[in-house]
Amino acid sequence: MQVRKNKETFSDPVPAHWAGKDALQSHVLNTLSLMFPAGEAFFIRSVKHFADRVKDPKMQADIKAFIGQEMQHSMAHERFNQSVAQNVGNMDWFMWLFTVPTFEWLEPFMRNYLGHEKLHQWALALTAAAENMTAGFAQSLFQPGELEKIARPDVRELYAWHAAEEMEHRDLAFDVFQQVGGDYVTRMSGMAFAYGIIAAYVALGTGYLVLKDRNFPWSTLPQQLVDLFTKENSLGRVFLEGMVDYLRPDFHPSQQPMHPEALAYLEKMAS
Ligand SMILES: [Fe+2]
Ligand SMILES: [Fe+2]
Repeated sequence: MQVRKNKETFSDPVPAHWAGKDALQSHVLNTLSLMFPAGEAFFIRSVKHFADRVKDPKMQADIKAFIGQEMQHSMAHERFNQSVAQNVGNMDWFMWLFTVPTFEWLEPFMRNYLGHEKLHQWALALTAAAENMTAGFAQSLFQPGELEKIARPDVRELYAWHAAEEMEHRDLAFDVFQQVGGDYVTRMSGMAFAYGIIAAYVALGTGYLVLKDRNFPWSTLPQQLVDLFTKENSLGRVFLEGMVDYLRPDFHPSQQPMHPEALAYLEKMAS
């Protein structure tokens, strides 16, 4: 595993509906992209807390690479977010609501004030669950015809790179969680909270972006909603399927092998 850099600057403002013809899916992804930087910073803190307890040198190296990859993802999505904001508008209120009550109030209260070891483990369970979600989205993006739906080459590069690395490091948080004694009940409660809170924020952010979008194709909204949860490789369906899969007591992220196209993409990046 290694850290790779994405250098896209998105100097030409990214259009609001960049993800193919489906405006709703674009706004779901625009909202997720707003959530990536703070979310990924949380993943890093969660893994870092347990890093010195991992003795295996290979896993130690993978933790370093994981941290580096998530930092790079955050920086690239910040640039993307600034660019697309020129077309979707200001989302400061959403950013406040997503970051302040969660990462500035709840998390420090749990980590520093309560400080119980089980809570740090629970934070890692949230991370492992969220990583299962992102790896599922990533896997679907590499299915035939999906990446091609992104017309802008710089945006396509951003998502291909991020998705490929999400698949590459999909085991890491889960393995650290298991290594520090994380049990099934903690894993499940972490999953319930992670999937619940992410779904709630995505619904809120997407709803707002749709409502203020002057060019939103309202007549096709019912069909877009159905597609979001039923169409193959659609975000809603992948979200639900990933959640069901994660329920299995013998679940492990490596049971879903990395997509060959993603491997090829990373190899191409390295050359
Ligand atoms: Fe990431
Ligand atoms: Fe990740």
